[in-house]
Amino acid sequence: MQPTVIAPSILSADFARLGEEVDNVLAAGADWVHFDVMDNHYVPNLTIGPLVCEALRKHGVTAPIDVHLMVEPVDRIVPDFAKAGASLISFHPEASRHVHRTVQLIKSHGCKAGLVLNPGTPVEVLDYVLDELDMVLLMSVNPGFGGQAFIPSTLDKLRRVRERIDASGRSIRLEIDGGVKVDNIGEIAAAGADTFVAGSAIFNAGDYADVVSRMKAAVAA
Ligand code: DX5
Ligand code: ZN
Repeated sequence: MQPTVIAPSILSADFARLGEEVDNVLAAGADWVHFDVMDNHYVPNLTIGPLVCEALRKHGVTAPIDVHLMVEPVDRIVPDFAKAGASLISFHPEASRHVHRTVQLIKSHGCKAGLVLNPGTPVEVLDYVLDELDMVLLMSVNPGFGGQAFIPSTLDKLRRVRERIDASGRSIRLEIDGGVKVDNIGEIAAAGADTFVAGSAIFNAGDYADVVSRMKAAVAA
């Protein structure tokens, strides 16, 4: 298992004060910045692009920026995000015609590569590509919006992906995204996740440090 990472999703941050919000959440103990990119095509919502990623880097953010692309087609936006300062880039297999090629494209631009599984996507999509990945991102809600409830069947899926990662013998992160809260993060960690995205649970709280530390304590328990 890899060291625990808490990655607040800035989807639930105050966009009018984004730099300050990111500074505050990192000062509160968060490890990464989770950056949700939605295109009103692959998912029914529209958010932020490479310019905002670049602006965060210019603002002085040095923490890893974990870019979650909910964009179709995905390939042509990858170089722009790499240039804008993305550390990891994850994409949905449904949004790529050639999944293996997109993974190579991401890595050829110097970023770590992740593959995202929607709640309805079978774990077999990892066959033949797992060994090329740095991270598997399991969606525990359908992509498109923050603030949705965690889908319970994801726990079983997490265990199945964890088995595959362990069998690979490689250090591949297992990230969970959607409906992660202080009161369910413990069982999510027990099922095999090591990297936790949380949007509304952190940004809707008054005290970010309190939520992040309670999440880390629950994972360690
Ligand atoms: C959903 C996004 C998530 C989302 C998480 O498509 O990928 O990152 O913002 O938000 P919460 O933690 O509120 O479910
Ligand atoms: Zn996300």
